[in-house]
Amino acid sequence: MMKGIKFTFKGVHRIRTIILLSTILLFSGVAFDSIAKDNGNVTEHRMHHNKMHSADDGRISLGLPPAMKQHQLANMRAHVEAVRSIVGLISEGSFDKASHIAHSKLGLTEEMKKMCNMFENKDFKDLGLAFHKSGDTLGEALKTKDITKSLDALHTTMGYCVQCHATFRQ
Ligand code: HEC
Repeated sequence: MMKGIKFTFKGVHRIRTIILLSTILLFSGVAFDSIAKDNGNVTEHRMHHNKMHSADDGRISLGLPPAMKQHQLANMRAHVEAVRSIVGLISEGSFDKASHIAHSKLGLTEEMKKMCNMFENKDFKDLGLAFHKSGDTLGEALKTKDITKSLDALHTTMGYCVQCHATFRQ
């Protein structure tokens, strides 16, 4: 009799465990699903928020047409790459190579002059031209092979990146 009851208890216990486990599995499934949905909503919400934010974040819009936007961004990615190369070359002591990159990628080349002059916004144009001039100054500072002078000039050049990004958007 006792054995039987014991067996029954075990059986009930086992069934309970199975029900409990299935319930946990079922609910965790539901929970995961709702978390996923929530994340979707959060992402959607954030994207929406960003869109609204970028339309009114205090920066001046240049109102660029799509083709020019792509061109500008590609140009910007080349700028950040140039800065990285320059920093790496300074750390290697390859100042001449760094100077060449500063002049050719950040300096006021004919191509950059043309590009800056395409913008209607005068402040943007002036800032762009001043930035490229600072790229040439950086190129000259690098020629001295003086690390402090070079970093000071790079600091000045990067000040233009920061200033322009804080002021303008596409
Ligand atoms: C005269 C203005 C100006 C200067 C100077 C400038 N930028 Fe930009 N940059 C912009 C604008 C405008 C955008 C687009 C920003 C937006 O619409 O949110 C941009 C975007 C970028 C992006 C994003 C690219 C992408 O693919 O999304 C990078 C990276 C960047 N700039 C790097 C730099 C670096 C590095 C420097 C300095 C060495 C620099 N920029 C100097 C105006 C400038």
